[in-house]
Amino acid sequence: MAHQWRGVIREYIDRLPFQESDPIITLGEGGTPLIEAPALAKLLDVGSVHLKFEGMNPTGSFKDRGMTTAVSKAAAHGAQAVIAASTGNTSAAAAAYAVKAGMQSVVLVPAGKISWGKLSQAVAHKAQILQVRGNFDDCLRMARDLSENYPVFLVNSVNPDRLQGQKTASFEVVDVLGDAPDLHAMPLGNAGNISAYHLGYREEVEVGRIKKLPRLFGIQAAGSAPFIQGSPVAKPETIATAIRIGNPASWDLAQEAKRDTNGGFGSVTDKEILWMHRFLSQETGVFVEPSSATGAAGLYKLAKQGELPKVDRVVVTVTGHGLKDPDWALKDESGRKIKPKKVSATAQAVAEVLGLERNK
Ligand code: F0G
Repeated sequence: MAHQWRGVIREYIDRLPFQESDPIITLGEGGTPLIEAPALAKLLDVGSVHLKFEGMNPTGSFKDRGMTTAVSKAAAHGAQAVIAASTGNTSAAAAAYAVKAGMQSVVLVPAGKISWGKLSQAVAHKAQILQVRGNFDDCLRMARDLSENYPVFLVNSVNPDRLQGQKTASFEVVDVLGDAPDLHAMPLGNAGNISAYHLGYREEVEVGRIKKLPRLFGIQAAGSAPFIQGSPVAKPETIATAIRIGNPASWDLAQEAKRDTNGGFGSVTDKEILWMHRFLSQETGVFVEPSSATGAAGLYKLAKQGELPKVDRVVVTVTGHGLKDPDWALKDESGRKIKPKKVSATAQAVAEVLGLERNK
C-alpha cells in the first residue's frame, strides 16, 4: 500500500520533543516539494535553484509545521483555547489546528491589513477574529499579555514549540538534496522562520548529516525593514502584508542565524517584490503570495548589484500559496486590472481571437 506522509511530528519524532504516546494534532503538514527552477538559476547566474514550496502545506503556508507542534503541546497541557497575533497565515493555521484539536481559537489581526484569502480561512475554521486598530506588533504585544493573564495558550513563534516544528523544513531540504545548499534565502518578518531553519541546519551538522551550514539570507520589504535599519520600525508599510512587521520578536535569534552562517539581510521594494511574484508564476510555474516572492527578489537584487556570493547550490523558501492573496495576479505591470476577453461560444470565434489558421 502507498505510504502516506504522516505530518512532521511523526516523520521526525526522534528529532522533536515528542513521543508516540503524546497527543499529536496533525493535518499532514510538511513533506512539501523542493522544485528545481532553472529559470531562476539562470537569472541569478548560479548552478541551481530549488524552491521549497511551502504553499503546499494544508493551510497553504509554512506556519502549519510550527502549528502542529504548538497545538499538540497545548493539548498536552490541557489547553481549551489558543491565541495568536497574525498578519494572516498564522491565524489561518491556528484556526485550523484548533479545530482538529477541539479547541477554541482567538486571533488578533491588524484591521484591514490581512488578505481576504487568509481572513476567509480563519472565518471558515470558526476562529474568534478580532481586528485590532493597530499593526502586527500591537497584536503580538496584546496576545502575549492575554496569554500571561488569561486561560489562553499562545501559539505565536515566540513559543519555542513553534520553532521545533518549523525546523523540520531544513531536514526535508537535506533529505532531498543529500546535503545542505550553499545558500538558503527566505522572506523575513517576525524572524521565526529564519531562526527555525538555523536551528534545523545546526542539528543536521550535529548529527553529521551535513558538514557545513548554508549561508542564511533573510529578505525584508523596504518599507518594513527593521533588520536593515538596525532598529524597530514604528510604522511598517508594504503591499507584502504577511511581512508588514516593525518589531520582530526573534530579533536576537535572526542576528545569530546571520552571524553563525555568514549570511545576510537584504531589502526589496514593493515593485521588486511584485516583479519577482510575476516571474515565479510565469517562468517557474510556482504561484506564491507576493510576500513569498521576497526571498528570490532579494537574491536577484544582490545578483544585479554584483553582491550575490559566488555559490553553486541555492534554495529559496517560498512561504505561502498564491491563492492566499490572489488579487495581485489579476493586475498588470502598471497596476491595471486584467480582464480575460469574452468571446461567442464557438470554436471559430476563439480561433479568430487567437489568430489561429485552420489545419490543412
Ligand atoms: N512569508 C509569509 C507568507 C508569512 O506569512 C510570514 C509571516 C513570513 C513569510 C515571515 O516569516 O515571521 O517567521 O519571519 N507571517 C506571520 C503571520 C507573521 O502572522 O502569519 P517570519
